Order: sequence, then C-alpha cells, then structure tokens
Amino acid sequence: MLVLGIETSCDETAAAVVQRTGKGGSILSNCIHSQIAEHAAFGGVVPEIAARSHLARLDGLITQAMEEADCNWSGLDAIAVTAGPGLVGGLLTGVMTAKALSASTGLPFFGINHLEGHALTPRLTNALEFPYLLLLVSGGHTQFVEVRDAGEYRRLATTIDDALGEAFDKTAKLLSLGYPGGPQVEQAAKEGNPRRFDFPRPLSGKEETNFSFSGLKTAIRQTANKLAPLSNHDAADICASFQQAIIDILLDRTAKMIRQFDNVHGKHDRTLVIAGGVAANKAIRLALEQLTDEHGWSLVAPPPQLCTDNAAMIAWAAIERSDRFSPSGFDLAPRSRWPLDEDAAGLIGSGKRGVKA
Ligand code: KG4
Ligand code: ZN
Repeated sequence: MLVLGIETSCDETAAAVVQRTGKGGSILSNCIHSQIAEHAAFGGVVPEIAARSHLARLDGLITQAMEEADCNWSGLDAIAVTAGPGLVGGLLTGVMTAKALSASTGLPFFGINHLEGHALTPRLTNALEFPYLLLLVSGGHTQFVEVRDAGEYRRLATTIDDALGEAFDKTAKLLSLGYPGGPQVEQAAKEGNPRRFDFPRPLSGKEETNFSFSGLKTAIRQTANKLAPLSNHDAADICASFQQAIIDILLDRTAKMIRQFDNVHGKHDRTLVIAGGVAANKAIRLALEQLTDEHGWSLVAPPPQLCTDNAAMIAWAAIERSDRFSPSGFDLAPRSRWPLDEDAAGLIGSGKRGVKA
C-alpha cells in the first residue's frame, strides 16, 4: 500500500510518501518546510501567518514528495491528511487540498488525528507490536496513553496545565534564547550546572500520575528576575536545572505508569514509546532509557526527525487505519480540538491552549 501524507496543523508544511513493507513501513520521501523563520520575530506561531505560508508552499511540497518517491498518481492507493487537532487555518489548507486531489484522481482520502500519527510512528520505524505505553510530549500535549490498536487509545494521565514543550518554549522565551525553545534549552543545558537551582517538581512523590508544569515556570521567572541581568553562565545553569527538574518529574511519573501497566498486563517484554517534539531531547531519552532498563522494559524513541511534526507519520497512520476503518467522506471538517481518547474526562485547565499537537 502506497500513501501520500499531508501535514499542515501547526508551523511545518509537510508532504511524504510511505509504503507498507511487511509489518513496518518504508518512507520513500519526507519533505518538510519549517516556518520557524517566519514566526521567530513574534516568539511563537502566528496562526494567520502559518495558514498563508501553508497555502503558498503545500502544492510545491506535494510535487517534490511525489518526485522524490518516484511516484505517480496512478501508483498511489490513498491520500492522508491531518484533520486535527491544530490551527484551523492550516488544517483547512491541508484538508481542502486532500479533498481536491481525491476528487480529481479518484483516490480515497483519510482524515487523520495528528496525535495518532505520533502514537503510531514506532510501528512505522520499529514494527512494534500492540499494546504499548506511550509518553506523548509535544508543544500542545503531555500524556501517557495505552496504545491498544490503530484507533484504540486509552489516556492514562495528562497535564493539568501547560504542556511540556510549552514549558521548554516559555523557559527559552524568558531567557531570550529564541523560538522554538526546546532545542535551545537543551543546547544551553549542556554547558550548565543542573544542581545550582533546586526548582520544584510539582506533584512528584505522590500517588498522582498527572503532570503540572506551571509552578516550575513561575520559579524560573522568579530566579531569572532575581539574577537579572543574566550572564550566559546563569542562563546555562537555569536551563540545566530546569531540564533536570523535568527529567526527575518524567522519571517519577514513568516509574508509576510502568508499575500500573505491569499490574494490568503482566511483566513481560513491555515497551515504552516516547513521541512528539520533546522526544527529540537526548538527555530525556537517555534518562528514560536507564529507567526502562531498570524495570526490564525497553524504550523505543523514533529518530528525532520523526519525533517532530512530519507527514510520513500521517501517511503511516492512514495505512494502519485502512485495515479497520473506511476512508473519509467529502463532508469531513477539520477539528481544532480532537483528543486521541474521546472518552477521557477533561481535567481542569488541561490542554487550554489546544492548538498544537
Ligand atoms: O510535536 P511537535 O513538533 O509540534 C507540535 O507541538 O505539534 O513539538 C514541538 C515542541 C516544541 O514545544 C519544541 O520546543 C519541543 O517540541 N522540542 C523540544 C526539543 N525539540 C523540540 N523540547 C525539548 N528538547 C528538544 N530537543
Ligand atoms: Zn506534533
């Protein structure tokens, strides 16, 4: 099965062609235009600029993805497009393009939940078997999810305030390190002392498996204000101490989730998957690898370029869904909010931004 994927939910315009090969998949092309430079001056994604940029770039990226994959329309089996969650202007650009392509070629199209793309990536890259425990950490979400099958997800824990990527981005903004903040904070942390500041680890050491990051953000702001003007050395120490607090929080929650999962599914050959943009962070990956080792689990982390937003994961999600679900109809409407587990109860304050995945 050969599928063209389209992703326009936030600040990456992307198109890719993916083929099913045995149990996993093969990425024949994976083209991405990052809009970082277009938003950098504003310190975050500007929805109107994002929508216009997707519109200007998407056709060219699709042509490029088809050419790089050496593929023509008659060779494709389906078109996949992110239909949510995300910024609605960008989603409309992608969904309307997919519908137009479907109408003109006669190919079926699948509207895909962007989070499902992240959740199923380890099956594309590692042919991982269901079920597995997913830690989804991105600009808009921080969740533990039990991935049971394509289309079957149970949210086990979530954030009650900010998302983890948002905490990285806000820390970077406070320290004037630029946007997006995750990679900048990780880079600066390498030069800093992780023990200089004892930042809070909200909700740690309790029975709680949910996350909270807003107290951490306040502590960082207070520290930065106290030290102002900050030297590069101070900023590096703040980044290192912040990242250490994040790692401790993730280790605390992951250890609890592993115990819960073992109790339900038994202790054998279990896998933790880390996905979403923050999963590109090497220090976090290393810490989780040690933890999973200690518990007799394995860690699967997709390659960094498949952790951040891309269209290969969208094409792959459609390949997986095509076994169990019908294609979308032309009445498909993009959804700015679209939880992976529709039955999960909302938590006060959680996902309040709700525009990034
Ligand atoms: O999944 P993603 O590419 O986009 C959506 O949120 O949909 O995730 C982006 C988030 C941003 O908040 C970015 O700062 C964060 O992932 N991120 C990182 C790193 N690379 C990207 N956070 C920490 N360390 C990184 N190396
Ligand atoms: Zn994402």
